[in-house]
Amino acid sequence: MNEGKKSKKQIESTLEERGSPGYDTDSLENIPSIEQLKKRVSDQFGEEARLILDSIDEVEGIILRREAREKGEFDDSKAIIHLSGLSKKYQSTGMSPVDALKEVDLSIVEGEMVAVIGPSGSGKSTLLQMMGALDIPTSGAVRINFQELSEMNSKQLTEFRSQTVGFVFQKFNLIPNLTALENVSIAMESTKMNRQERRSRAAELLKQVGLNERMSHLPGQLSGGEQQRVSIARALANHPKIIYADEPTGSLDSRTSKRIISLFDKIRRDFGTTIIVVTHNNLIAKKCDRTLKIKDGRII
Ligand SMILES: Nc1ncnc2c1ncn2[C@@H]1O[C@H](COP(=O)(O)OP(=O)(O)O)[C@@H](O)[C@H]1O
Ligand SMILES: [Mg+2]
Repeated sequence: MNEGKKSKKQIESTLEERGSPGYDTDSLENIPSIEQLKKRVSDQFGEEARLILDSIDEVEGIILRREAREKGEFDDSKAIIHLSGLSKKYQSTGMSPVDALKEVDLSIVEGEMVAVIGPSGSGKSTLLQMMGALDIPTSGAVRINFQELSEMNSKQLTEFRSQTVGFVFQKFNLIPNLTALENVSIAMESTKMNRQERRSRAAELLKQVGLNERMSHLPGQLSGGEQQRVSIARALANHPKIIYADEPTGSLDSRTSKRIISLFDKIRRDFGTTIIVVTHNNLIAKKCDRTLKIKDGRII
């Protein structure tokens, strides 16, 4: 549903009813966006009026989503990822609180490949962190792989993070004093595989991402793009049911990006893996089943 349009209509009709001074209702067709309309309101009635409009938008959105939830529209039992009213507020000392996510509802079914796009600071990384049990939401429910994260104990959460999901972090998060091969094989430490099996799978994965010549290099001896590929290999190590990738081709040239996109696509086809990928790369977005747009902590 396009809430922006609805609000615009409401504002338009309110202004029309009141016959607002200086507001030319004949030229409404020429107003292309709610943002411009709001600017006109704030220019005319001051910044406070604009803040009120923003709050009306916000409350309206929340009410609409609550109603939908109450009607059971979000009770999608087949969804491998199911978020309901998910909010995250960051509260750092001496800083004003940041609403990084606001009442997000989302259902993703198994095997879907979904792109997440949105401006910097809109909440994309926070969204992945909540879905990967790397941080705790302020409110709302997160059900992943048919389990409520809030109901898991710390042992279950550790297993979930290492076995159920694979993370490609925006900043790679490699261990600096381990080689590329070791960084990948260590992800399999808690499995039944022996050392040799772990090393040979790690080598195979590094080959798939095009790093067969770099296996014994330390992260500091690798370029950003190479480190990124090590982190992709590590995310794939335990055949996770879900992969969260935060701008996985951000440091890669276009040829290597294509290789990684094809690899994701192949994994998804071969194993039915669900893949959520934050990206600015149109090629990736095109390969995905759908694109989620996120802005100011909301899916729009
Ligand atoms: N640990 C944190 N403490 C305080 N604020 C944070 C923290 N992490 C993220 N934020 C803030 O939350 C908002 C969303 O951040 P983020 O999810 O990283 O956005 P994106 O990945 O879309 O660039 C931003 O305003 C950011 O500054
Ligand atoms: Mg980010």
